[in-house]
Amino acid sequence: MNFKQITDGVYYAGVNDRVTTLFEGLWPLPYGVSYNSYIVDGGEKLALIDTVRIDEVREFLSNICAVAPGRTIDYLVINHMEPDHSGSIPEVVRAYPDIRIVGNAQTIGMIKGFYHIEDDSRFVEVKDGDTLSLGDRELKFFLTPMVHWPETMMTYLADSKLLFSGDAFGTFGALDGGIIDTEMDTDRYFPEMYRYYSNIVGKYGKFVQRALAKLSSLELEYICSTHGPVWHDRIAEVVALTDRLSAYRSEPGVTIIYGSMYGNTAEVAEVIARELSARGVRTIRVHNASHSSMSDMISDAFRYEGLIVGSATYSMRLFPPVETFMNAMETREIQGKVFAAFGGYTWAKGAVVAKLQEYSDRMKMPIAASMILRQTLDDESLAAARELAATVASQLKCTC
Ligand code: FEO
Repeated sequence: MNFKQITDGVYYAGVNDRVTTLFEGLWPLPYGVSYNSYIVDGGEKLALIDTVRIDEVREFLSNICAVAPGRTIDYLVINHMEPDHSGSIPEVVRAYPDIRIVGNAQTIGMIKGFYHIEDDSRFVEVKDGDTLSLGDRELKFFLTPMVHWPETMMTYLADSKLLFSGDAFGTFGALDGGIIDTEMDTDRYFPEMYRYYSNIVGKYGKFVQRALAKLSSLELEYICSTHGPVWHDRIAEVVALTDRLSAYRSEPGVTIIYGSMYGNTAEVAEVIARELSARGVRTIRVHNASHSSMSDMISDAFRYEGLIVGSATYSMRLFPPVETFMNAMETREIQGKVFAAFGGYTWAKGAVVAKLQEYSDRMKMPIAASMILRQTLDDESLAAARELAATVASQLKCTC
């Protein structure tokens, strides 16, 4: 029975999830996650914006009742169909039998597929730019496909300059009391925003760029995402961060990812890191791919300008966690990095650097420098590792 007023006639009715350990079954949630839902009171009509994951439905329905005791909910606007937001649709329909569901043609098709709600009179289909009157105020809909599924859209409440943005501008991390950024220490959410964007939305940069361009003329006082804080004071920062990540623009720094069975390839990574530091690189993130979470590695690789990947040779292939990482990079179409490769071998010389070269070719991300370690470091390979670091350091340009 927890709710909060965001601004006049707009209420937060979402919930925290501190139980799920892996978002989408993949991504760690050390600080939990919130599923945000909102209610707009338009005077005549009430609209609920998105729902929550089904596991939290009891608390969610109780929040809705607390916002609008004794009133019915007239509309349920569905901005995004991933089940962390759509999962409670059937229970909302059960609680409010006359509710009409607002979505675009793709949304409606997915509701039928996921939840077997078939009656067409239940739906209000909207197209890009359409509006819906709630009496004294009006919702306007912007289709923003692939941010993060094809049906995604955003809903704008012009009189409050408030955007219900779906997954865009979202973060991992439950809401520990405060809901709006003005009421909390938001610094802790920014690393989680990098991780959320790169892990979940990272493949769809060009679509995010299109959405940002489409929304650029809107005046914004509040951004109400489906995850994390409601943005008010820090809107400019979260928009800039999303713009930077979706355009694959980097920040100064180098990420080193390595896979090593007996520590020899790891030693090369340490030499490279030390040499980068000696050459003035201040932000260096080193990940042992067998130990770090894939989520953190993807996040740092998105964030920083340099990307150096090293792998032990494993059955003539990349060491499996490194291969998984490179597949994640390719899937997300990561680009624009100063990319370098190194590999360790005992008898299959060159196999892993050749594999990394294949990724480089497919991703159109040239290898700026590479080196190969035969068994253990010696004077020659030590010098080659330092030379690789020197080449990367000399090619870093980012000053943002
Ligand atoms: Fe938070 Fe794409 O769902």
